[in-house]
Amino acid sequence: MRDEDGVTIRLEDYRPADFQIHHVDMTVRLFEGHAEIDTTLELERRPGAPADAELRLDGDELTLTTLALDGVAVPAQGFEAAADRLTLRGLPQSGRFRLAIGTRIEPERNTKLMGLYRSNGVWCTQCEAEGFRRITYFLDRPDCLATYRVRLEADREAAPILLANGNPVGGGPLGELRHFAEWFDPHPKPSYLFAVVAGRLDAVSETFVTGSGREVALTIYTERGLSERAGYAMDALKRSMRWDERRFGREYDLDVFNIVAISDFNMGAMENKGLNVFNHKYVLLDPDTATDADYAGVETVIAHEYFHNWTGNRITCRDWFQLCLKEGLTVYRDQEFSSDERSRPVKRIASVHTLKANQFPEDQGPLQHPVRPTQYREINNFYTATVYDKGSELVRMIATILGEQKFRAGMDLYFERHDGEAATIEDFVTCFEDAGGIDLSQFFLWYQQAGTPKLEVSQIYDETAGRLTLRLRQSLDKGAAGTGTRPMHIPVRYGLVGANGQDLDVSGASTDARVDGDLIHLTGEEATVTFDGLSGRPYLSILRDFSAPVDLRYNEAEADRLALARLDPNPFGRWRALTDMVGDALVAAIRNGQDAAPDSVLDAMVAAAADETLEPALRAQMVSLPGETELTRLVARDVDTDVIHAVRVSTLAALGRRGQGTFEALRRELADTGAFSPSAQAAGRRALRNTLLAPLATAARDPSVAVTQYETARNMSDRLAALTVLTHHFAGSAAAETALGAFYERFVDDQLVLDKWFMLQASAPDAGTLDKVVALAAHPAFRLANPNRARALLAGLAGLNPYVFHRADGAGYRWMADMLGKLDTLNPQTAARMATAFRSWRSMEPKRREAAQAALSELAGRDGLSRDLADILDRTLR
Ligand code: TRP
Ligand code: ZN
Repeated sequence: MRDEDGVTIRLEDYRPADFQIHHVDMTVRLFEGHAEIDTTLELERRPGAPADAELRLDGDELTLTTLALDGVAVPAQGFEAAADRLTLRGLPQSGRFRLAIGTRIEPERNTKLMGLYRSNGVWCTQCEAEGFRRITYFLDRPDCLATYRVRLEADREAAPILLANGNPVGGGPLGELRHFAEWFDPHPKPSYLFAVVAGRLDAVSETFVTGSGREVALTIYTERGLSERAGYAMDALKRSMRWDERRFGREYDLDVFNIVAISDFNMGAMENKGLNVFNHKYVLLDPDTATDADYAGVETVIAHEYFHNWTGNRITCRDWFQLCLKEGLTVYRDQEFSSDERSRPVKRIASVHTLKANQFPEDQGPLQHPVRPTQYREINNFYTATVYDKGSELVRMIATILGEQKFRAGMDLYFERHDGEAATIEDFVTCFEDAGGIDLSQFFLWYQQAGTPKLEVSQIYDETAGRLTLRLRQSLDKGAAGTGTRPMHIPVRYGLVGANGQDLDVSGASTDARVDGDLIHLTGEEATVTFDGLSGRPYLSILRDFSAPVDLRYNEAEADRLALARLDPNPFGRWRALTDMVGDALVAAIRNGQDAAPDSVLDAMVAAAADETLEPALRAQMVSLPGETELTRLVARDVDTDVIHAVRVSTLAALGRRGQGTFEALRRELADTGAFSPSAQAAGRRALRNTLLAPLATAARDPSVAVTQYETARNMSDRLAALTVLTHHFAGSAAAETALGAFYERFVDDQLVLDKWFMLQASAPDAGTLDKVVALAAHPAFRLANPNRARALLAGLAGLNPYVFHRADGAGYRWMADMLGKLDTLNPQTAARMATAFRSWRSMEPKRREAAQAALSELAGRDGLSRDLADILDRTLR
């Protein structure tokens, strides 16, 4: 396969750099059309480095303007400069020396949005993973830590605000028109955490007093006119700071903490030291323009980036193979934060849902890789669900295995031992071995072996003896990554539920495995656990709280599932039993040519919706049918998305019929009254009410309930829920078109809401959608260069709309391939990310499979593809 452009980087080849950069002094001069960067590196040959070692600095599309060693211009024979590398020979053998490097760049032309670029007039940077080398030549690798002093100079009109990492240390006018600001970051950091921002920005500010009494000035900057929408983000920031003090004993460590919201941004946000830069989608909110899901997203991302200050910044990664060291751990921390701030079971269900939707297909398809990969061609392609979300699951399993106190002791040890360092996964895991007094060497396989282990569970009940015997068996196939298949340490949380809905005492279990209360440590291929003295067969509530990221195969009787869905004292267990039942019923209907899931299953969903012992948010999760994308995953082979769509729609309508009275009563009871609150409780009530809209409207074959809700909605959650039902279930109707038109008119000046308008139409499972999407790509408000807008249309179709993307005639695939080709010329990172929508092409039925392969191969064969996109396409086709 193609590898001519790409060098494969391997973990086993890691070695430290030959030079150390102690300190960086930078002057960034911003002008219309270009920027001049003067950088002075304070360097030293690393002890033990070869005497003839050259200094090889990374660059990317750079132009060198000046080069001086200790104040003297470097003669031509002393260096070699290319756009992607600056090499110097004959540097001093010992002691520190200073290398001054001048570069000139053009931020306005930077559509990759990596390095220094301009977004809506604002200068900003994105340096992770390898963007700093697009600003100046550097040892652009995470194990090179330096302190930075940065001076920014710009036009006072164009950029009244000048920000960089660390604390502000000076500033003032420069003649008539320009001014400057100086910043110093005392914490040694890798270059990927470097950031500057300059522009006309509005701000909201507050003061936070840390646990030890230090004052920190918090500011959130937005584009002009949008700062009133940053209030919730500020509140989430303060709660995050307090939570990290309480839960992990971590205090903030600078005098200021700044966040800047930017409209053109490749990902969610970036944790630059003291200067987080965000996709404005994760900062700006108000009830009129943002849904409850948006509020939850802002809270999570604000927390995530803040928590990186310790897990990522104070302790960073030795190399990019260790990415999960900061990302898996920080996702775990933000999930814990949301659990504490909102509802633990509801958050856990949401996380498991995301894991199964995003990570499982990745782990079971051509893009499979271990949580800690051992090779890559393009590191940008490894910011994946596996590294982030499965990475978080691994940390959670360590916490489960150690228990709360020892886990906290392990975290304390990690902070104490590695603060200020660039660490590895081995370093991290060793802290838990030392603090917990246990051996995690088998557990370490979770970081090395790719794929989702299968966990098969069976039970035998001996009526006369009153004995229940559980058998557990694990197995792991060799997948695309070709890593190992050895048995792993799987913590399996469980309960035995009596007929009255009480957990039985399970302390008397006898076993050939290790059982620790309600936790079975499955370490071998198989284990048997026996419970004696039972007075009747209990219900087995297995894999509670999804205690391990496994593919559970349990031949569970429907009667048991119905019982657990009603009476498992563990709320997660109730959701698990019900959704497994619903999923299996739908897959059976799809495979066997039935119209819809059976009534017994639908009635259980109706009962869950009405169960007042459960919080509304949880009831909403229980009464939600799996989406078509999820069903595509569950069906797994020879998928025909037309059948999936048909069965899902009839099941939705059948659910609406079975539940009509109950659902209508609930919707009345939950109707929006009083003032808007973004609280989890209020959001949960809206979620339940809105989840019932689609079944009711499809059952009635009448959009009027959605039309009424659209017209009377007083917040975006209710409005968008109604519009979704109209566009997805009544596509092309006058009701849908009228509402879409009204929505557009109302929000025409709001970028974030327009993204929703584009996405909603692209994700409509309807025969007319592709033509509509082609027209939308030519709409004056469509901008392929803006990642949010591009994502709305491309991922709206390819990620959220299997019915259209996987059209049997291949038109969906061809449209997507074509758009990816165009996007790749502007923004390779975003193109590559969206190309992963093709990852499940092999699970389609033959006709679709062939069409997908043809579209992929055509795109992969084009000249001049980026390394990012070529890497994804090659692996997807391999
Ligand atoms: N480190 C960031 C986070 O998860 C994500 C990130 C990685 C990123 N690379 C990026 C963001 C490139 C924007 C662009 O918190
Ligand atoms: Zn992160």
